[in-house]
Amino acid sequence: MPILSVNVDHVATLRQQRLGKEPDPVTAAHIAELAGAQGIIMHLREDRRHIQDRDVDRIAESVKTRFNFEMAATDEMRDIALKANPHIICLVPEKREELTTEGGLAVAGREAEIKDYIAPLHDAGIESSLFIEASKEQIEASAKTGCEYIEIHTGHYADAEDKAERGAELGRILDGIKLAQDLGLKVNLGHGLDYRNILAFAEVPGIMEYSIGYAIMARAIFTGLDEAVSRMADLIAGFVD
Ligand code: PXP
Repeated sequence: MPILSVNVDHVATLRQQRLGKEPDPVTAAHIAELAGAQGIIMHLREDRRHIQDRDVDRIAESVKTRFNFEMAATDEMRDIALKANPHIICLVPEKREELTTEGGLAVAGREAEIKDYIAPLHDAGIESSLFIEASKEQIEASAKTGCEYIEIHTGHYADAEDKAERGAELGRILDGIKLAQDLGLKVNLGHGLDYRNILAFAEVPGIMEYSIGYAIMARAIFTGLDEAVSRMADLIAGFVD
């Protein structure tokens, strides 16, 4: 069954507005787990704009499901990952000026470098995923790095301005899923997914994880986090395996 992993970065973004203690992303993670999330995601950015190092330590200690640690491929982040020991890391590109992770990781041409980068994580029993665009080039390159998973960037599909563009982006993602699976990669999806646009994947077999933050937190402001997570978890529970 595909799982729902809830990204709690947006809770930390709100907390950092006042540099205080509330709302606490770790409490959000615990509530999300109680409401049916089967994984928790945190992205510790190099500029620490939302999640802080202590949040990672606290989640690593207390997560009851699956901890997916998003990070840039730097030495500092790998040391933190080795200490936190998440179930899986997801490598993402980072640009300081971006509002959120905008594009996928450039893997093509860097296969050997990425393979070397993730090797110590694999040795420590931590799985790895690469957040990439649904392009043949990036998927084929990812398959050469030794990563178990890719997370296909669904942001362009989510942001499409009309039906034709949405259909084209969806087609690209569906082709990408198939290619990745044929190459032996496990496929996660994430970025910009919400309660409506996710339904396009309901009949697509073999998706392992949906990584969702913004839509859940936006809904939670009005309906509560428990309702927002359980609604999404229930939707995904009806998807094909
Ligand atoms: N996957 C990755 C790699 C991301 O960077 C993000 C955004 O933090 C997400 C998934 C979740 O995206 P959203 O917050 O739009 O649901």
